[in-house]
Amino acid sequence: MAHVDVIRVKGGARLAGEVAVGGAKNSALKLMAATLLAPGASVVANVPRITDIAIMAEVLRRLGCTVALEGTSATITVPDEPGSEADYDLVRRLRASICVLGPLLARRGYVRVAHPGGDAIGSRGLDMHVAGLSRMGADISGEHGFVIASAPGGLHGATIWLDFPSVGATENLLMAAVLAKGVTEIDNAAREPEIVDLCTMLTAMGAHIDGAGTSTLRIEGVDELRPVEHATVGDRIVAGTWAFAAAMTRGDVTVRGVPAAYLEIALDKVVSAGGAVEPLGDAFRVRIDDRPRAVDIVTLPYPGFATDLLPMALGLAAVAEGSSLITENIFDGRFLFVNEMVRLGADIRTDGHHAVVRGRERLSGAPVAATDIRAGAGLVVAGLCAEGVTEVSHVHHIDRGYPDFVQNLRDLGVEVERDKAPDEEAFGF
Ligand code: EPU
Repeated sequence: MAHVDVIRVKGGARLAGEVAVGGAKNSALKLMAATLLAPGASVVANVPRITDIAIMAEVLRRLGCTVALEGTSATITVPDEPGSEADYDLVRRLRASICVLGPLLARRGYVRVAHPGGDAIGSRGLDMHVAGLSRMGADISGEHGFVIASAPGGLHGATIWLDFPSVGATENLLMAAVLAKGVTEIDNAAREPEIVDLCTMLTAMGAHIDGAGTSTLRIEGVDELRPVEHATVGDRIVAGTWAFAAAMTRGDVTVRGVPAAYLEIALDKVVSAGGAVEPLGDAFRVRIDDRPRAVDIVTLPYPGFATDLLPMALGLAAVAEGSSLITENIFDGRFLFVNEMVRLGADIRTDGHHAVVRGRERLSGAPVAATDIRAGAGLVVAGLCAEGVTEVSHVHHIDRGYPDFVQNLRDLGVEVERDKAPDEEAFGF
């Protein structure tokens, strides 16, 4: 459902007030896929009202599940024998559909999922998913644009060393291992709060998992799992977006729904830039009175600085006093949107995975285009620090990850308008 609609923001804004952040997209999508592991009705609560969730619901429906999305709750009823195919028309719209690979292989012993290919932020391979599942006894091939995996005799436990703590590979291997025969150990596993959330839900379904939140996951396979009710962890990337937006606009914002601990390094950068951060249990407050100071930022797997906040890091650097060195280590295409930031007057030079940013007191409003979810949000936020009006087009990307984005901005005091309201039907709930 492609919107070519735009968000217009008036620059010179100062964000002030409170913003409530809902469940994490990147957790809810995987929790929904994990329900495939048990026949019956599971409920995933605190799901964000965004397009990606609606697409994942469609993926599950095509696999024979009934999915009811009501408010922020997804009730998923999984048949005894779910389907085993995910087609390109859906995978193309939602790369995260690949996370049905592990659970379906575990449940059905056969799965055929369209290969997601690359996207606007980089090539995004599947080699670690494939190598890990092969170690667990799967036979994996690729043909006609599909990844085909089969394990007719069932999967077995294995020791798997990931070359890199890939979020997607850790999740797929984890969801396969919970029903495999014997013990699986995943070393150099991803440690994101979303992985911990998945482990918590799987454990409530009857899985045996040790080491959640550490780089070694030990999973003892069980014969079957049961349905569950589980609430999704808060979205640290949305929360971090507001924290940086507050710092960039010399604002005062209380962000609810995510503890400061999920954003330690990101919030430490805000402090280094001159901001004050106050942890408030399941919330935190960011306040800054003066122009932010330049800070160097390096993206790394959790608990490092999140790559999804890279556009916000560049935005902060673009308006900070002094020069910053921003380094991206996760996605090769993350800097593609820098050209759009330059259109807003940002002084950014990239070389490979480094960007040198010389801060300017004010940017200059211009029409720009969103290229992905985070770049889209980053451009709108940069527009808040620009003279005049910034018009960001292709904001359907923002709808994929930020529920109520425009309303949140308005509530924080920004003059903002959207040409065409997001199509409620596109959300499917
Ligand atoms: N990689 C490989 N081989 C693999 C797996 C990954 O080379 O088998 C590479 C990728 O190409 C990439 C890097 O490793 O360069 C990181 O990939 P990872 O598997 O960790 O990321 P992902 O699971 O594809 C998730 C989020 C991303 C987030 C990254 C990193 C979801 C749906 N997506 O992607 O979120 O940036 O982890 O934290 O969970 C977003 O929400 O906008 C977004 C892009």
